[in-house]
Amino acid sequence: ADRQPRLPPAYRLVALDSVGSTNDEARRLAAEGAEDGTLVWAREQTKGRGRRGREWSSPRGNLYLSLVLRPECPAAEAAQLGFVAAVALCDALGSVLPPLVEVTLKWPNDVLVNERKAAGILLESVMDADGALDTLLLGMGVNIADYPEDSAYPATSLKFEGARRDLDEVELLEAFARHFLTWVNRWVDDGFAPIRHAWLNRSKSKGREIEARLPDRTLQGVFEDLDETGALQLRMSDGSLRSITVGEIFWRP
Ligand code: BTN
Repeated sequence: ADRQPRLPPAYRLVALDSVGSTNDEARRLAAEGAEDGTLVWAREQTKGRGRRGREWSSPRGNLYLSLVLRPECPAAEAAQLGFVAAVALCDALGSVLPPLVEVTLKWPNDVLVNERKAAGILLESVMDADGALDTLLLGMGVNIADYPEDSAYPATSLKFEGARRDLDEVELLEAFARHFLTWVNRWVDDGFAPIRHAWLNRSKSKGREIEARLPDRTLQGVFEDLDETGALQLRMSDGSLRSITVGEIFWRP
C-alpha cells in the first residue's frame, strides 16, 4: 500500500521518492541542524553506497533509510550504534518473516537471511572543528523485493526467502523504527554489554572458521568474540588473538 509510515514520536520522518543517497541527504540535513532522530527514507536511490566504496543496488521495492544520530558519547563508542541497529534490524526482520526463516548477523553489521546477505548498514561520522564526533549517519538498506545477482558475496531478498507477498517498505520501516528505539534505549541505560550479548546470540559466528579480508591483507582464524568497541577478536592458528576493526569476513567450509 502507499500509506505513510507511522513512527514513534522520537523520529522526524523525511520521506522522499527518489534521491542519490539517503546518507548524503541526511548529511546535508544534519549540516542544516537536523535533530537527533531525523529519518530520511527514500523509495529508490540513484547513487546508493555500500561499505568500502561499493555500490548499493537501490531499485524501487527495497528499503533505504538513513538516521541522523547525535549521540553524546566519544567517537570510539559511536560504532556501537551500528551493532544496536543490526540487532534491531534482525529483530524487525524476525517479526515480519515466517517463523522458520533464519535471520542472523554477520560482522560487522550485515543481516543474513538463510545465510545470504539481505541487508547492510553504512555508518558515517561527521566531526566538529575540534575533531570530536558531531553527528553519526546510520544508513540501512534492506533487500525486500530485489537483490543484485552480481554482488561480491551471496545476496538475497526477503521475498525470495519466503516473506509475505504484501510485505512492503512501510511495514518494515515501522518495525525497524520500533525495535531500534527499544534497543537504543537499552544501550543508553545499560551500555554495550547487553547489545554485545544480543549480537553474539544472533550471529552464530562464535567458534566459526573465518577468513577476514582486511584493507591490506587476508587473515584466517576462528571467530572468538566481539569486544567492547565492536572489534572482532580473531584467534589465529598460533594461538594468538588479533583485534580486527575494519574488514569483511567470509565463512570457511
Ligand atoms: C553495506 O555495504 O553492507 C552497507 C549498505 C548500506 C546501504 C544503505 S541504503 C541507505 C543508505 N544510503 C546509502 O547510500 N547507503 C545506505
